[in-house]
Amino acid sequence: MRKWKMALAILVVAALVFTMVGCAKPAGKNWVVGFSQIGSESEWRTADTISVQNAFNEDPSFTLIYSDAQQKQENQIKAVRSFIARKVNVILFTALVETGYGPVLQEAKQAGIPVVMIDRDVQEADRGLRLTIMGSDFVKEGEKAAAWLGDYLKKIGKDDGKKAINIVELQGTTGSAPAIDRKTGFANGMKDHPNWKITRSQTGNFTTAEGKAVMEAFLKADKKIDVLYAHNDGMALGAIQAIKEAGLKPGKDIIVIGVDGVKGAFQAIVAGEQNVTVECSPLLGPQAVQAIRDLRDGKKLPGRIWTIESIFDASNAAAALPTRQY
Ligand code: AHR
Repeated sequence: MRKWKMALAILVVAALVFTMVGCAKPAGKNWVVGFSQIGSESEWRTADTISVQNAFNEDPSFTLIYSDAQQKQENQIKAVRSFIARKVNVILFTALVETGYGPVLQEAKQAGIPVVMIDRDVQEADRGLRLTIMGSDFVKEGEKAAAWLGDYLKKIGKDDGKKAINIVELQGTTGSAPAIDRKTGFANGMKDHPNWKITRSQTGNFTTAEGKAVMEAFLKADKKIDVLYAHNDGMALGAIQAIKEAGLKPGKDIIVIGVDGVKGAFQAIVAGEQNVTVECSPLLGPQAVQAIRDLRDGKKLPGRIWTIESIFDASNAAAALPTRQY
């Protein structure tokens, strides 16, 4: 009997030590976070996914459930429903396109699960169903691209304000927030330049392969292209290939503008083949963890959490390249 009691006491102490040391969790509640990502269409997206996964994995008080929608809205809707069924504490959500998520966001709201948007938002009408959005100002990115072009054309003496400046546009995924907003922002900037014309505009789905294919088609149809405005660097890099294959010099015969600030774009700028990239940081993980920690601590989150970003061209890209993280 004594031996039995002793064994039991040892077991209890061992269990206690295991709980305190082996499974040590920091003070505070442990939260389960469901993350619905849209896919892996670009270098940017991969960096974004890794940033979020690393940031949550570094904090043992969080468990991240990751779901890759592979560019299908129905997969995202299924993922959110499964997060609701699993009673996660919070849903982290990047919307593939702006529309079509109202009902599922309503379901999350009814279940009392807050939804924090990261990178891409939903349409205005559904924004009351999510708690906040963190990421870049895509309209501003388009405006920065147009402002840079205005300065550059002036600097190289190519724009007399009268002769047409022909611009082709490679749009991102149709209906997505960055495609809509980057188009709007650039169009805002164009208002000051009545001689700038968007002569062709088509989606390249944010991928290098489609960017190349669409640019090939543009070049076949039209030799008078002064500027390419690509909604991301991946498409710009594909288009650079197409321009070279057409016997033209990217960065010289055609001014190339991209968005994101991926390493490939920096290398292309240093090589003189891309003229500028407007930064859009995918390194959103630490910001996401901080916001969700604040939420768990009962703090009120702001309605918009902005990311601070820069712009890189021949004047500063080479110096910044060695420290680029994506
Ligand atoms: O939503 C951000 C955009 O999506 C990035 O600019 C693009 O590269 C990505 O695929």
